[in-house]
Amino acid sequence: MQFTTQLKPTDSIVILTGAGISKESGLDTFRCADGIWAKVDLEDVATPEGFQRNPALVHQFYNDRRRGLLAPAIQPNPAHAALVELERNWPGEVLIVTQNIDDLHERAGSQNLIHMHGELRKVFCAHCRTVEHWNGDLSVHDICPTCTRKGGMRPDVVWFGEMPYQMERIYRALGACDLFVSIGTSGNVYPAAGFVAEARSAGAYTVELNLEPSLGATQFAESIHGPATEVVPAFVKDLLALA
Ligand code: APR
Repeated sequence: MQFTTQLKPTDSIVILTGAGISKESGLDTFRCADGIWAKVDLEDVATPEGFQRNPALVHQFYNDRRRGLLAPAIQPNPAHAALVELERNWPGEVLIVTQNIDDLHERAGSQNLIHMHGELRKVFCAHCRTVEHWNGDLSVHDICPTCTRKGGMRPDVVWFGEMPYQMERIYRALGACDLFVSIGTSGNVYPAAGFVAEARSAGAYTVELNLEPSLGATQFAESIHGPATEVVPAFVKDLLALA
C-alpha cells in the first residue's frame, strides 16, 4: 500500500463512488453481466428524449428502483460505513462525490457528500423547478405541490446529455485534493471518468478500489482490486493509522 507513504493527516481527500460500492447491499450495477443496462435500454429510460417519448415507461423504471431501494433488506454495507469512519476521524477534509442515486451513503452517516447524478428519493417539477423529497411512485398525473401544475414532475436524476450537479464545486475539490480515490465505478461515463486525470494533474495521489481494473485503471498511481466490503475498510484502516 504505497499510498500510506504519500500522505499526511492534514491532506484533503476526494472520493468518487459508483454502483459497485452499493452492489453488496443488494443494488444492481449498470454494466456488470447482470446489470441494469443489460435489462433495459438506457436510451428509453435515462435520456430526456426517452422521457419525452414515453414518460410512463420512465416513471415505471424509477418507481421500481425507488421501491427496491426502500426495501428493508437494502442497507448500507461495510464499505459505506468505512467512509463514514474516515470522514469522522481523518483530520483533513473528506468529500464524497457519488454517481449513485441511492441514499446508502447518507443512511450510513456520510455528510460531506455530492450526488452528481441526482437522487432517486427526490423529484422535481419541470415547470417551477422545485425539488421535493418523494418516496412513493411518481406518474404523469402527479401535481406539483408547489406550483400545483400537472404533468411536469420527473425523477431528480441526471440523464445522459444533461449536466451533472455541482460540477464547479467538484472541480474545485479535485484541484485542491492530495488524495483521489475511485471506488466501484467502471470509468465508462464522463465527466466522472475524467476526475482521476483532473486530480492527478493537480498533484494528487490517485488510487482505484474496484472489483476489477476499470477502463481508467492505468491512470491511477495505485489499484487495489476486490469487493468493496473488503478493500474499502482495509484501505480506510491503513489511512486512519496515519492520522
Ligand atoms: N465491489 C467493488 N466494485 C464492484 C463490485 C463490488 N462488490 N461489484 C461490481 N463492481 C465494479 C464493477 O467491476 C464495475 O467496474 O463496479 C463498477 C460498476 O460499474 P457500472 O455498472 O458502469 O456503474 P458506474 O460506474 O457507477 O456507472 C456510472 O453510468 O449509467 C450511468 O448514471 C449511471 O451513475 C451511473 C454511471
